[in-house]
Amino acid sequence: MRRVYIETYGCQMNVADSELIVGVLVREGFVRTDDPAAADVLLVNTCAVRDHAEQRVLSRLGELKGFKRPGRVLGVVGCMAQRLGPRLLERVPQVDLVIGPDGYRGLPELIARAHQGERAAEVEFKTWEHYEDVPPARGERVSAFVTVQRGCDYRCTFCIVPMTRGAERSRKLADVVREARDLAAAGTTEVTLLGQTVNSYHDGEHDFADLLRAVGAVPGVRRLRFTSPYPTDFTDRVLAALAGTPAACEHVHLPVQSGSSRVLKRMLRRYDRERYLAVVAALRGAVPGIALTTDIIVGFPGETEDDFQETLSLVEEVGFDDAYTFKYSPREGTPALKLKDHVADDVAGERLERLVAAVRCGAKRKNVALVGTAHEVLVEGRAKRGALLQARTRTNKVALLEGPDEWIGTYARVRLTGTTGSTFTAWPLESEGEKGGIAVVG
Ligand code: 5AD
Repeated sequence: MRRVYIETYGCQMNVADSELIVGVLVREGFVRTDDPAAADVLLVNTCAVRDHAEQRVLSRLGELKGFKRPGRVLGVVGCMAQRLGPRLLERVPQVDLVIGPDGYRGLPELIARAHQGERAAEVEFKTWEHYEDVPPARGERVSAFVTVQRGCDYRCTFCIVPMTRGAERSRKLADVVREARDLAAAGTTEVTLLGQTVNSYHDGEHDFADLLRAVGAVPGVRRLRFTSPYPTDFTDRVLAALAGTPAACEHVHLPVQSGSSRVLKRMLRRYDRERYLAVVAALRGAVPGIALTTDIIVGFPGETEDDFQETLSLVEEVGFDDAYTFKYSPREGTPALKLKDHVADDVAGERLERLVAAVRCGAKRKNVALVGTAHEVLVEGRAKRGALLQARTRTNKVALLEGPDEWIGTYARVRLTGTTGSTFTAWPLESEGEKGGIAVVG
């Protein structure tokens, strides 16, 4: 029996892609291993969105090549593989194969060629590719990622993804629903729909509103999430579907990138500050109590202190539940490279620090106000440190509670009892005689 080891960097779609990649190899008789020393094929599924992500992969490849023995294959897949292609073979002589996001079907062939001593890169875009016939080898049962759209047709000037994942295409609604049904039948209760601009989903017949309603109607799907949406693709239809689909969770990750309309324009985002705020208001109107998280870039070319102040004030005005914050990283081949007025690294670094502090402060304020409230949580597993269980509210807040292993994968009603500012402690509600009365259900 041949063994495959895969390490995943970057976004949730990469996690889903790794499940597909292993799925391709399972059909060839492979099994997955968590031990690189025991693997016949070692793969690194990579991210190209920032230089830092690529540097981490390069240093990790330096370590993984230590596991190479005669007959073993080392491969780099994903967005960095697509971006660098054959250049990666030149740069890291121990790498046998390089495959971009549309080429995973070719993995068995490239492994066979590697055994013949041939090193190859497969970076052709296949705009029809959805891996519809490949059953993903999913690690987890209760919660599942379902890719509904691949590629990206937006042209944000900072972003490498259109160049690494190719043109946008959506799976057929019926195929997504069939997958959700199969998952639910096997015990999955939480489904996260994935796409680069997931709410621009359109399969020629159905839009994202149809998709939300259809997947939300699958018996057994208790929680429906999606990531990442694009702000201006929250049409009235999508808002109505969100509001009208009980399974759809009260959390949206809504990347803003900047609070300055001037910067947003240079980023070629399709909204200005006011429009973004209008989308926030519309979401809050449609789904009361909805949690909002975001992505923000600082130090984009031309960003002045005034622009940055606009970002800080937007953070304050929206009151995000959390935010991922990044220093702009210039990416080869992206339009932003041609923009002038680069922001010095120390200036960007200092802005990032101030932004992180503002985000933390706003999140803490929100979270402190939630202490004492009751929530349904999905118990996900043991927390990394300590003996507590880690659970998640529908609003995507992490709560730690005491409880037995039997609760893992089940839902409970809890009261939030305290917060660090970002995560919570919680207490099951059974003893308090709350509605439902039972601590653990389903
Ligand atoms: N530099 C910094 N951050 C970036 N992102 C995308 N491209 C870049 C870049 N060149 C961030 C955006 C996006 C998230 C996934 O990564 O905020 O939403």
